[in-house]
Amino acid sequence: MMKKFCIALCFQAFLLIVAATEPIPTTLDGPFKPATRRFDPSLRKGSDDLPIDHPRLKRNVTSFFPEQIALALSSSSSSMWVSWVTGEAQIGLNVTPHDPKTVASEVWYGKESGKYTMKQSGVSVVYSQLYPFEGLWNYTSGIIHHVKIDGLEPETKYYYKCGDSSLAAMSEELEFETFPLPAPNKYPQRIAVVGDLGLTTNTTTTIDHLIMNDPSMILMVGDLTYANQYLTTGGKGASCYSCQFPDAPIRETFQPRWDGWGRFMEPLISRIPMMVIEGNHEIEPQAAALTFQSYLTRFSVPSKESGSNSNLYYSFDAGGIHFIMLGAYIDYNQTSAQYSWLQDDLKKVDRGVTPWLVAAWHSPWYNSYSSHYQEFECMRQEMEQILYAYRVDIVFSGHVHAYERMNRVYNYTLDPCGPVYITVGDGGNIEKVDVDHADDPGKCPSPGDNIPEFGGVCHMNFTSGPAKGKFCWDRQPEWSAYRESSFGHGILEMVNSTHALWTWHRNQDIYREHSHGDQIYIVRRPQSCSVASKDSRLSPSIPPTLDIAAARVSSLLCYIILPVIILIGLLNNH
Ligand SMILES: *[C@@H]1O[C@H](CO)[C@@H](O)[C@H](O)[C@H]1NC(C)=O
Ligand SMILES: *[C@@H]1O[C@H](CO)[C@@H](O)[C@H](O)[C@H]1NC(C)=O
Ligand SMILES: *[C@@H]1O[C@H](CO)[C@@H](O)[C@H](O)[C@H]1NC(C)=O
Ligand SMILES: *[C@@H]1O[C@H](CO)[C@@H](O)[C@H](O)[C@H]1NC(C)=O
Ligand SMILES: *[C@@H]1O[C@H](CO)[C@@H](O)[C@H](O)[C@H]1NC(C)=O
Ligand SMILES: *[C@@H]1O[C@H](CO)[C@@H](O)[C@H](O)[C@H]1NC(C)=O
Ligand SMILES: *[C@@H]1O[C@H](CO)[C@@H](O)[C@H](O)[C@H]1NC(C)=O
Ligand SMILES: [Fe+2]
Repeated sequence: MMKKFCIALCFQAFLLIVAATEPIPTTLDGPFKPATRRFDPSLRKGSDDLPIDHPRLKRNVTSFFPEQIALALSSSSSSMWVSWVTGEAQIGLNVTPHDPKTVASEVWYGKESGKYTMKQSGVSVVYSQLYPFEGLWNYTSGIIHHVKIDGLEPETKYYYKCGDSSLAAMSEELEFETFPLPAPNKYPQRIAVVGDLGLTTNTTTTIDHLIMNDPSMILMVGDLTYANQYLTTGGKGASCYSCQFPDAPIRETFQPRWDGWGRFMEPLISRIPMMVIEGNHEIEPQAAALTFQSYLTRFSVPSKESGSNSNLYYSFDAGGIHFIMLGAYIDYNQTSAQYSWLQDDLKKVDRGVTPWLVAAWHSPWYNSYSSHYQEFECMRQEMEQILYAYRVDIVFSGHVHAYERMNRVYNYTLDPCGPVYITVGDGGNIEKVDVDHADDPGKCPSPGDNIPEFGGVCHMNFTSGPAKGKFCWDRQPEWSAYRESSFGHGILEMVNSTHALWTWHRNQDIYREHSHGDQIYIVRRPQSCSVASKDSRLSPSIPPTLDIAAARVSSLLCYIILPVIILIGLLNNH
């Protein structure tokens, strides 16, 4: 009996070995020896912004017909946000805001094409971006509509139209499919992760590639349009901003780029939800100390639904994944409202229902590029402990314009229960790809570099390891598993409650099938990395080094020792 079992088991193991000639690594094989893919200097050449009259950016509708249609998940699979814009934005002198009440916000929807059995209404809003400074232009938006539709069934296709039926200004019919209810064996099929996108020809490559990978949702980790990098004053630009506008204490950020971006993204995000979190390019300060007006007005996120009092941080479920979207540009200190919300949210997560816990925010804590090196060290010091204690599985960030995947790490120490940190700020924006590593000779930033737009500076020298007493390593740090300076995007596919396949696609591979830049199974170990009990929440259990040793012994047993025993047994029988 025992022997039969062993033969079956090891036969399976043999098949696995034979079948997988090039096995995809898993995080259990880690920590990995740090690797850097050599940079191809031809990629350093960036790309230009798409012109504002480019077909994919142009306003194709007239009067109050809907455009820039976008979907976002609400807190559960039974509801969905639909957002769109009507009317023309204005920029220049003496702009007059639209009256948002003049156009209604309706979504008609149902399970059969052309048959809209349900209807919901929502809100309409406008925002203005004002620069009362000599030479600069004011902007006021079209009417921005947000409707939450609910009563949806999970895993069901819906057809919808949006607009104002009284003006006979409804959109074409569009469709989307709802996600499964939260459960440990139900997941959205493919989640695209992208950051620092911008609106250039490199962005076009990224998005076309992403569409070819057929995602069911997009996680957008901040820095969406780079409207604030666009040439000011109607795109004419100023070679020396402070000379031309000596009176202006702030930079103009060219809001029509947001409308262009909304149109550029519409073919994708009117069919699948996009979940956003703010980056530094969304701050967009204007007169009267207003910030984040475009981000806050244009996007619906399930903040109220998730108990947050700000659209700058929130959470939601997508099948068996609980996502936590953190704000890096709003108070994150342990004394802050965001931190108490985070504590409550983490407490509520039931890993029996949503085994996967994925967090995302814009600026990475672990980053070995010179760009933004240790910039968000204050945020890490405030928040890392609680995320670790609750066993966050994966963290996605952007901000650095390159790709990097970390070994599991906690407090700058390799730790089998730490999250897998991944930087995908490589969407293709105008600022070009980041190439310097802080460990390259002469590339270690000086203390005055990398000051965050928000929060304090907490740069620190390492207290142990090869970089002890120093600010930078002299080689790729041990916590950095893989890095590459290319543009691209990632796709996350949950296999089950313990295995997820992560694939990073570089832009150069767009027309090469089955080609990718980085691929790994991210494996959860709920037994050995259990969530600490409620009382010891902030003193996590000891990393299970023993457990790893046990796992190694048992796999050694199965793959090498047992086959040998069986072979001997078989030989003896003959
Ligand atoms: C960006 O696009 C330009 C022009 O198409 C191309 O030469 C360059 O290699 C791209 N950059 C990257 C990092 O892919
Ligand atoms: C922009 O708006 C501000 C505030 O309403 C106003 O003071 C300023 O004159 C406007 N600027 C232009 C160029 O219209
Ligand atoms: C506008 O219409 C043209 C031609 O049909 C199309 O190529 C383009 O993608 C459309 N743009 C938007 C933003 O819908
Ligand atoms: C967060 O705490 C740090 C250190 O106590 C402090 O310097 C910083 O100003 C605080 N940030 C906010 C937004 O209160
Ligand atoms: C993290 O490591 C530093 C030393 O580098 C230590 O001072 C600090 O107490 C550690 N933090 C935690 C939460 O363990
Ligand atoms: C931190 O490291 C830098 C070099 O990496 C060194 O110049 C500096 O003196 C160190 N600071 C402290 C407080 O040790
Ligand atoms: C998840 O899938 C992997 C790979 O197919 C398998 O090895 C593992 O046992 C599965 N885990 C669960 C909990 O079903
Ligand atoms: Fe950024």
